[in-house]
Amino acid sequence: MATVRFLNTDDGAVEVEVPLGTTLLEAAQKANAPEGSACGGVCGCSTCHVHVKQGFKLLSEMADEENDILDKAFDVVAVSRLGCQAKIEREGLVELHITRESYETWYNEHPKERHARDERVKLTGSPRTKPAP
Ligand code: FES
Repeated sequence: MATVRFLNTDDGAVEVEVPLGTTLLEAAQKANAPEGSACGGVCGCSTCHVHVKQGFKLLSEMADEENDILDKAFDVVAVSRLGCQAKIEREGLVELHITRESYETWYNEHPKERHARDERVKLTGSPRTKPAP
């Protein structure tokens, strides 16, 4: 098993335990973290782009196809990965930051949640769904 921590959800950091072989996008879906997936996870869009802050070496090697798609993404850094392509291959902690592009794509794909988030921001000034710890 591995732990995946999403650092920048609307409620702050959230963690999920996943078996080896899980992609970062699958982990996000299990954690209800807002990571986009416009192409459905077939390495065709870059909207699942994340920055891996810890545990980069626990992930599968990047294939040429992923590298080519990342070339078209915004805000690419040395620790960028596509969530649908990066599989967790070794036990440990993977910490990541969902990119702005990915976060906004998720909300575009989930209009009901976007409306609810916009209402929370309007009423409270924060997108949080629960009080800060
Ligand atoms: S979901 Fe489209 S490239 Fe990952």
